[in-house]
Order: sequence, then C-alpha cells, then structure tokens
Amino acid sequence: MRAVADLPTPAVLIDLDRVERNLARMAEAARDASVRLRPHAKTHKVLEIGRLQLAAGAAGLSLAKVSEAEVFAAAGFDDIFLAYPTVGEDRARRLLALSDRIRIAVGADDVEATRALGAVFRAAGRTLDVLLKVDCGYHRVGVDPADARAVACRIAELPGIRLRGVFTHGGQAYSAETPEDAAEVGRSEGETVARVARELRDDGIPVEEVSVGSTPTALSAMRVEGVTECRPGNYVYYDGSQVALGTCRLEDCAMTVIARVVSAPVPDRAVLDAGSKTLSSDPLRPRAGGHGRILGTSSRIERLSEEHGVVQVAPGDRFRVGERVRILPNHACVVSNLHDVLYAVRGDRVEAELRVAARGKVT
Ligand SMILES: Cc1ncc(COP(=O)(O)O)c(C=O)c1O
Repeated sequence: MRAVADLPTPAVLIDLDRVERNLARMAEAARDASVRLRPHAKTHKVLEIGRLQLAAGAAGLSLAKVSEAEVFAAAGFDDIFLAYPTVGEDRARRLLALSDRIRIAVGADDVEATRALGAVFRAAGRTLDVLLKVDCGYHRVGVDPADARAVACRIAELPGIRLRGVFTHGGQAYSAETPEDAAEVGRSEGETVARVARELRDDGIPVEEVSVGSTPTALSAMRVEGVTECRPGNYVYYDGSQVALGTCRLEDCAMTVIARVVSAPVPDRAVLDAGSKTLSSDPLRPRAGGHGRILGTSSRIERLSEEHGVVQVAPGDRFRVGERVRILPNHACVVSNLHDVLYAVRGDRVEAELRVAARGKVT
C-alpha cells in the first residue's frame, strides 16, 4: 500500500474515517428527524462515495445536471433528483432516456419550461416527476413563496408532468455570522417550504415530497414539521468555510490537499505548487480569509495564480523549499471538480484512488 508521503503533489486526500463518521452522523440526524436523506452528490461526484451514502441509509442522490445523472445512472444509481432548473428539449430527451432505467425527478420554477419537458414525456406516453423550487430567501432560483400556489396549480395540470412536491435551498446560510444565525435560516427554510406544501394540499394538490437542505442548515431545517427530505452535500467532506461558519470542527474535515513548497525567496513569503487549478479561487465564507489554511501552522495562502499558492508566512512559521504541507481548502465541492483522482487515505496510508467520475459534467 502506498504511503501519503510518496504521493505526487499537489494531491487531494480524502480521509475515509472522517467521511464514514460524517455520513453516519448525518444519517442518524435524518433518522431522528424522520426525514429521508438525499445527499447532493455535487460535492464529491465520486461513485464510491455515493455508494457509501446509500449504504449509510440515503434514499437516493441529488445532482444538478443531466450529464451528472447519466454518469451515476450508468453505474447503477437508480433514484436521482436533479435539484436544478432543467430547461430545454435536448435535456428532456435525455431525461426520457434516463427515465427508462431509473426513478428521476427534476426541479422547476417556470411553467412554460416545464410544459416543454412535459410535451416530450407526453409524446412518449410517459410522465416526468417535478418538484417546484421555492425561494426561501437565497434569491437565486425559485418562485416567491407568495406565488408558489399559483405556479404549482399550473404545473400540476401540465400534460406529461406529475408534481411530486416542493423544494428549497437555504444557501443564504453561507453568509450567516454565527451558527445560531445559520440554524435560524434553516428553521425559516423548512417553515417556508412546509407552509407552501400545506397551502397546495388545501388546494387539493397532493404533495409527496417537501425537500430542504444545505450543510449549514440541514440539522435545523430537517426538524421542521412537514419536511420529508433533506439534501446536504458538503457534509461528506466539510471544508474551511464550514469550520469558519461553525457547522463542523476542524477534525471533521475529510478533504485536505498536500502541496510542496517550491520557493521561499524571503522570510515572510513561501510559494506552494498548488494554485487556483488545484484549490479553486473560491473565497472563504462567511468572511474572506485567504485561499486555504495550512494545517499545523498559523499561515494562510494569501493569493493564487494558476500554479502558485502564495503564502504570507505568519510569525513563528517557517517553510523550506521541498517541504510538504497540508492545506484545508475553502470549498471542497469545487476542489473535487478540478481533479481526475482523489486519494482515499486512512492515517498515513493510501487505501484507494477515487475517480471523480462526474467531474466536468456541465450539460
Ligand atoms: C439546490 C441545492 N440543494 C442542496 C445543496 C447542498 O448544499 P451544501 O453544499 O451546503 O451541502 C446545494 C448546493 O449548492 C444546492 O444548490
């Protein structure tokens, strides 16, 4: 078995003990709250990690793009929700092909776009399951809760479409100042979508699924009465932003990047062989704070170019050329998408190479 110390750099490590612990904890929280867990596999895009999530009790997976679903379906995953507005006849045809093999549903917030999807399914004598996206305050996609009833009624009547339920995503929690604020976003996230579900049922529309979830809001949102499903993604690895938000502890973080010092020209500057191609340029949330924490030091990566991570060396730290360091990335999801292979480790041994099978799948 290979040692971590023998890996080329930069390399992304996944600590399997921590992944298993993170999966078990979230699965237990979902069981306690009596909701189904449908983790967002966008974070890892790795088939083996998806299988671990199902083995830990997940009901299925969430993804964003049809091409991601195609990769997971080909590997035997048979229950996928695309928590993303799926628009266009080209995608409808690919969804139809997927629906021959797996249980699939998509998010929607637009009547005419959904009508076009339904037309393709109707022509084939089939029905596509749709969840209406409700905006609970993130203000990205999703209908205003005040409009949800009217839009849901129209979607529910579309040929070729079955309205399976409603969903939302409290992404505004990534700006929360404290863990209590994030928990409050989660409660409000759950209450918003549960209220819409009640209104739809009052109108005679059956609502089977009431789905919530981001990693910072999962634990509070899933406990709201009426919520049936939760879709956290990042919790599988966590990252520097989740530590800064107070969602997890440093020792829960399962993804680290090893890099080598390639230059240390002056005492207060060192340069690593990991730049934006390795770490992404995503900022630390909720407040900017460099591009990655160097574990075991007080130093952070202050700026990046593609192949350079420039470290502002903190007083008391010292970096020698050739030395290896371990970095906690700001945002694990985007790091996965940058790498063909991740190294699954236990302690200082490499246990497996994980192919990021659905990386770069953007269509
Ligand atoms: C619609 C949707 N649901 C769930 C998630 C998972 O959230 P997180 O990455 O905070 O776990 C995301 C993440 O972007 C998302 O966009």
